Amino acid sequence: MKTQILLISIVMIIVVACNSNNKNKSISSEIETNQMEDYRPQYHFTPDSMWMNDPNGMVYYEGEYHLFYQYYPNSTVWGPMHWGHAVSHDMIHWEHLPIALYPDSLGYIFSGSAVIDWENTTGFGSTENPPMIAIYTYHDPKGEKAGTDTYQTQGIAYSLDKGRSWTKYKNNPVLPNPGIRDFRDPKVIWHKETGKWVMVFAAQDRVKFYTSPNLIDWTFESDFGMELGAHGGVWECPDIFPLSIEESNEEKWVLLVSINPGGPNFGSATQYFVGDFDGQGFIPSSEETNWIDYGADNYAGVTWSDIPENDGRRLFIGWMSNWLYATKVPTERWRSAMTIPRELQLIKDNNEYKLISIPVIEQNKLRKGKISMEAQVVSGEATVETGDINLMQSELKLTFQLNEDSQFGIAEEFGLELSNSIGQTLRIGYDQTKRKFYIDRSKAGRFEFSTLFAAKHYAPYEAKSQLELRIFMDASSVEVFVDGGQLAMTDIVFPDAPYKQMKIYSLNGHTKLLESEFWNMDTIWK
Ligand code: FRU
Repeated sequence: MKTQILLISIVMIIVVACNSNNKNKSISSEIETNQMEDYRPQYHFTPDSMWMNDPNGMVYYEGEYHLFYQYYPNSTVWGPMHWGHAVSHDMIHWEHLPIALYPDSLGYIFSGSAVIDWENTTGFGSTENPPMIAIYTYHDPKGEKAGTDTYQTQGIAYSLDKGRSWTKYKNNPVLPNPGIRDFRDPKVIWHKETGKWVMVFAAQDRVKFYTSPNLIDWTFESDFGMELGAHGGVWECPDIFPLSIEESNEEKWVLLVSINPGGPNFGSATQYFVGDFDGQGFIPSSEETNWIDYGADNYAGVTWSDIPENDGRRLFIGWMSNWLYATKVPTERWRSAMTIPRELQLIKDNNEYKLISIPVIEQNKLRKGKISMEAQVVSGEATVETGDINLMQSELKLTFQLNEDSQFGIAEEFGLELSNSIGQTLRIGYDQTKRKFYIDRSKAGRFEFSTLFAAKHYAPYEAKSQLELRIFMDASSVEVFVDGGQLAMTDIVFPDAPYKQMKIYSLNGHTKLLESEFWNMDTIWK
């Protein structure tokens, strides 16, 4: 059917700042080459080369955001795990640092967390120079091979020089394994009210809480989750933190738990619970299963420790992949990126607590040049003139009106389509009949590496009268934040050619696009 386009008016304002190609010459030419590869994100964190998975040990100290991560420096597939390391002054621009933790006789260094021991409870530093403590899982491959159940234990290490060099505790492990095969991913917090350290970690189908006065001696407190939440796979990488409900004095605790497989769109995903925590046990406020992100590619995400009180934000980053295909995605010299950093907030909607994810405000610094369009009504398809916007490295913000009185009727489905010269299409849209939001990557590009990759990913969503989308596209990923982060969806994509066209589509009815703004995003690797 020939498409009909009703344009009320289009005013294009193009203010594209010149794209400075001034590269900082201090970066080695190898890094520069690596960062120009196909599919290499330009404003997301990636390791310079080789394999990366979970973010680890995120902690803020003396003006630096630390990002450690599961890293295997000898291959682009998973292997003996190290902690890679990078620092940033703004969570946006990263400096790669040498590997922080290497495997040792106790095993590989699996996921975990880091804290600043301000009171020097460990005795590893002083109150003048508090130690940075990493708490991680030892995974002993020999024990695993021998068929024991005790090959995962928790160990600690400390740094007295802002995470640059590390000493492992001489009596590791601090928490031996009682005979549970999956026994890993400790997240440690300081619990003010009880004056104790709390460790939460994953043990198969539950999380376990332990407490300690000094990060060395740990006492079991409680289990949580055996009969709650999703259980389609093993639980991994928990996190727990308090959050005040927006616009109220009420405070609740949020427990994040990653699960693999068993996510809402298959494979890996992260669920959350909202409830109360007294330093020993967690009591959920509801029995519902909630997901922090409905896309297929936001896993093992946790939050930064020790963010100063005068900032007060709860800051999150996730691994932008999925164990279904992470080791097979078509990148050559490195594998995987992190999501953009997100601020988590808690709202109460219809008496239900809801975690929302918002790109950190610092992200806006990368915006360069802008195109905006005036309102238009679309029926069928409307091509959007994108001027000098490089869609593969952009932020796209669009607001749709849903319940516009219209003699033509309201569309069953509408959204945005990005496409390339060989007809590959990525669709991001809302299905009003199903009341579901979606990212459709089934025809978005390469998928030969996994039969589970090409798919349309749905998220249940009750749109109100308007729907606001913020879409972040970066070489091989798309992150969508709906209505100020009430819904987040993150997917990776591998088009054979860059998406250069953008369309708004509206199926079986009309859709009004109220506002739109599109930006180029600057590279963070300068
Ligand atoms: C999650 C995970 C963790 C583990 C790490 C190993 O992706 O499986 O449970 O500590 O990766 O690299």
